[in-house]
Amino acid sequence: MIFIRLWMFFAGVLAVLFLGWVGLVGAPGVQLAALPAQTGLRPYTYQQEHGRQIYIREGCVYCHTQQTRPPGFGGDQGRRWGRPSVPGDYVFDQPHLLGTSRTGPDLLNIGARQPSAEWHYAHLFNPRAVVPQSIMPRFPWLFELKAAADPGEPVVDAPAEFRPGGGVITPTREGVDLVEYLRGMDRTYPVKP
Ligand code: HEC
Repeated sequence: MIFIRLWMFFAGVLAVLFLGWVGLVGAPGVQLAALPAQTGLRPYTYQQEHGRQIYIREGCVYCHTQQTRPPGFGGDQGRRWGRPSVPGDYVFDQPHLLGTSRTGPDLLNIGARQPSAEWHYAHLFNPRAVVPQSIMPRFPWLFELKAAADPGEPVVDAPAEFRPGGGVITPTREGVDLVEYLRGMDRTYPVKP
């Protein structure tokens, strides 16, 4: 008798877990699997995809979200971070980088808000150089000190104290690709309501 009741107990537990999975994972997965990309959303280039890997590796997602909320769900619209995001904005994102914490601003539309590569280089090299009150960490390992820049190579406008011997600071390939990823982040195209 007790054996039958135990069996029913475990069947009940399994049923609850299964129903939870269907409701939260299975059904949304089927619903969203065939979602078309928003008109206006472009797939990542090889360079941007590499920059995205650097974004993941450096942990930018721990301080920055990539999701903008509708009016009534926080101040995103007042901050001009862009229209509320929709599922079709994320079709090319794998894994998605929605983020959960906003120590820094939302970056879903940072490319539209800040298109200047020079600004991004200076900011990543030392955020305090462009935003004096910033608490964002520096990412100096995305840059190197060289005697002179190659033709066409971007140069960071860094004070002399960062350039012992008087060389120039240039972004590494990882730095260049990360900035290309950031500058490509633009979901400001209109969506159907
Ligand atoms: C410890 C938290 C933290 C981490 C990690 C972090 N940031 Fe930030 N970030 C901030 C804060 C705070 C600000 C706002 C102050 C400023 O602009 O520097 C900011 C600002 C920014 C801005 C400017 C946003 C705007 O609207 O002007 C960009 C771009 C940015 N971060 C990119 C990155 C990237 C790329 C990485 C990873 C390489 C990164 N951040 C890692 C905290 C962080």
